[in-house]
Amino acid sequence: MLPGELELIEEISIDGVEHPDEGVGPDWPHRVGEVIGGRYKLTAVIDAGGQGVVYRALDLAGHDEVAVKMLKSAAAHNSEWRERMFREAQALAALSGTSAVRVLDQRWTSDGMLCLVMELLHGADLETVLERLRRRGVGFPLDGLDLVFAPVVSTLERAHEQGILHRDLKPANIYVVDAPERPTVKLLDFGFAKFLRMRSFTLAGTVAGSPSYIAPETWMGFGPRVDHRIDVYSLAAVLFRTLGGRPPFVARDVPALCQMVTTAPRPSLTALRPELPSAVDAWVEQSLAIEPEHRFMSVRAVYNALRTALRLPSLDEDPRARR
Ligand SMILES: Nc1ncnc2c1ncn2[C@@H]1O[C@H](COP(=O)(O)OP(=O)(O)O)[C@@H](O)[C@H]1O
Ligand SMILES: [Mg+2]
Repeated sequence: MLPGELELIEEISIDGVEHPDEGVGPDWPHRVGEVIGGRYKLTAVIDAGGQGVVYRALDLAGHDEVAVKMLKSAAAHNSEWRERMFREAQALAALSGTSAVRVLDQRWTSDGMLCLVMELLHGADLETVLERLRRRGVGFPLDGLDLVFAPVVSTLERAHEQGILHRDLKPANIYVVDAPERPTVKLLDFGFAKFLRMRSFTLAGTVAGSPSYIAPETWMGFGPRVDHRIDVYSLAAVLFRTLGGRPPFVARDVPALCQMVTTAPRPSLTALRPELPSAVDAWVEQSLAIEPEHRFMSVRAVYNALRTALRLPSLDEDPRARR
């Protein structure tokens, strides 16, 4: 095992989210103890985000532990958010057999909310891993790059082949699973997934994604015309963050961030990590280019180009990286 990988395993060996009860508030009831669809007993909150909650649960039929994702009740009455849960379930079903998190079942709560029952993952999302490295002043190990990104690249590639865009690629949606031999990685959260052949349901004037990783054309209001290159951009932004320790653009508020992403010069990765070869800065210029046509054309191309810039063998040539 490589030294960098060992370090990564050490980083991910603590299970779960640090403050699992954060976000419990009057806008959604605490459902712990409730049995969903006569089968899944909610035992704890794993994460409560903007619109959704992920619970740990016990499968009363098989006695296995599972994860159950559902909307907060306020969002459950919003038809757009309800539709998103359906699309997430559809996208994950279409990607079965890849590194997308596995959906085991779908159930309804007694008050009519759709729940996704997923395999329960143990480990930490990449946001947590990167934050722990940052606090220790340690850069992400280059020999751990494939471990995290090879599965992400192949899963996104399969999604794009099927006309599915993830649209919310960011470290919090990449999960590093703590496994006895070697960590594995799962891609989460297809809640913003877009099926290119279906009508768009994102409301006019809204932007899908997470500010630090959103492609310029999304900000520029090309929502209905975007293609897989928005995921290619986000993957590059996540790779930048992973290697550089911070996202490519950091601003005081969202309008300032939007301004930078759509107009500012592209940042230097070697300024943040001087030991990297200077070729990575040319990679940043191309992979985060404002115009989609100046970027790499696929998730595999952008990842392989980074490996070349870092003088690592390309993903196709390295048997360790095959999944
Ligand atoms: N199957 C799972 N097992 C364990 N933790 C999970 C699972 N799915 C999600 N999580 C945790 O919950 C967080 C939120 O889940 P996610 O699907 O990204 O929903 P949201 O739409 O709220 O961002 C993730 O970042 C991860 O930490
Ligand atoms: Mg998420």
